[in-house]
Amino acid sequence: MPTPLSPAVVFSPADGLRTREVSVRPAGPGEVEIEVRAAGVCHSDLHIVSGDWPTDRPLVLGHEAAGVVTATGAGVTSVRPGDHVVLSWFAPCRRCRKCAAGQAWLCTGTKAVDNTLPDGGTAFTGADGERIWPYLGLGAFTGRLVVPETAAVKVPEELPFGIGALLGCSITTGVGAVVNTAGVRAGESAVVIGTGGVGLSVVMGLRLVGADPVVAVDLSAERLAAARRFGATHTLDGAREDVAAWCREHLGGADYVFEAIGSPKVVETLPGLLTSGGAAVLVGMAATDATASFNLFDLADQGKRILGCNYGSSVGEIDIPKLARLYLAGRLPLDELIGRTRPMSEAADALDDLRTNTGMRTILEP
Ligand SMILES: NC(=O)c1ccc[n+]([C@@H]2O[C@H](COP(=O)([O-])OP(=O)(O)OC[C@H]3O[C@@H](n4cnc5c(N)ncnc54)[C@H](O)[C@@H]3O)[C@@H](O)[C@H]2O)c1
Ligand SMILES: [Zn+2]
Ligand SMILES: [Zn+2]
Repeated sequence: MPTPLSPAVVFSPADGLRTREVSVRPAGPGEVEIEVRAAGVCHSDLHIVSGDWPTDRPLVLGHEAAGVVTATGAGVTSVRPGDHVVLSWFAPCRRCRKCAAGQAWLCTGTKAVDNTLPDGGTAFTGADGERIWPYLGLGAFTGRLVVPETAAVKVPEELPFGIGALLGCSITTGVGAVVNTAGVRAGESAVVIGTGGVGLSVVMGLRLVGADPVVAVDLSAERLAAARRFGATHTLDGAREDVAAWCREHLGGADYVFEAIGSPKVVETLPGLLTSGGAAVLVGMAATDATASFNLFDLADQGKRILGCNYGSSVGEIDIPKLARLYLAGRLPLDELIGRTRPMSEAADALDDLRTNTGMRTILEP
């Protein structure tokens, strides 16, 4: 039996962004029912609304969330009702070659990026019986949802739900970009371009591993002030400074540059910021058809590297609890990443705040 209708924040190509009534069917085999307690608003939700990532079907948005398990389907062993969980948006299949190799972030068997559950279906139904699909296999801008077992990562009960929500995407991506994708070491220099929720998490990761100097670049004075609090040693206004010239003069080129915007124009500048042998890490996600060009002689001659970064090269069930422990031990100032908390009904306003770089990360509560 589907549960009674409850509101969900849905984007559809025909109607745009709307709150609609949806019902959720119970968990099937290998699935888990979750009561959502907090959901973060990430630029990857905005990419759908802005059309950067076109969708041909209605989606319940939201992919950065935490909640409580209310029921489990047959065969589920890793969580039970009452467990607090962080939702991982790239639910791995645990069967493909990449999963077998311990590279869950590269899973080729996941259906999350098709915006379906692993069986290709959806647990959401609209008021007229129409199917509504879970964005990134989750669809967390609602009160209840059903996810695959591998998307529900158990975390300690003392972890606040808002922090748990952000562990579901921005923090794990940003810190993971430093620790896993790049493997930055103490004393290496790094530049972070774009200091929203993801970029500030990169800055935090750089402080955690002892990178120095750490240069933050953004267009917003408020974001740059936040970057200082999170451990940036220098901040630059990207609209005013010639960042490449600054890096050459002050760093002799950076060991690492992290792009956390998804701007092809900014990505094209990255090799010019690097020292020989340095690496540019692409954390921001561009439009699906975006391309960029580089001077190939410079890349080859100087041994510069360009690294793609999906989900901070993280294995959710290992990295999410690890980051939760670091937070609980006082090693990551994650509380400061949270700005306003709003009711789920204000999702459109929260997306507007994200679009206009107003405030820090917004948490939505059902
Ligand atoms: N790789 C992944 O797995 C992954 C995971 C989560 C998010 N993302 C992507 O990361 C990107 C950032 O997400 P977010 O939620 O932090 O976004 P956000 O909107 O919170 O932050 C973007 C920041 O970039 C700044 N900015 C914009 N243009 C700039 C420019 N030209 N120069 C300098 N700064 C500029 C903005 O002022 C803002 O502070 C998005 O593209 C998102 O889709 C990727
Ligand atoms: Zn996200
Ligand atoms: Zn897999």
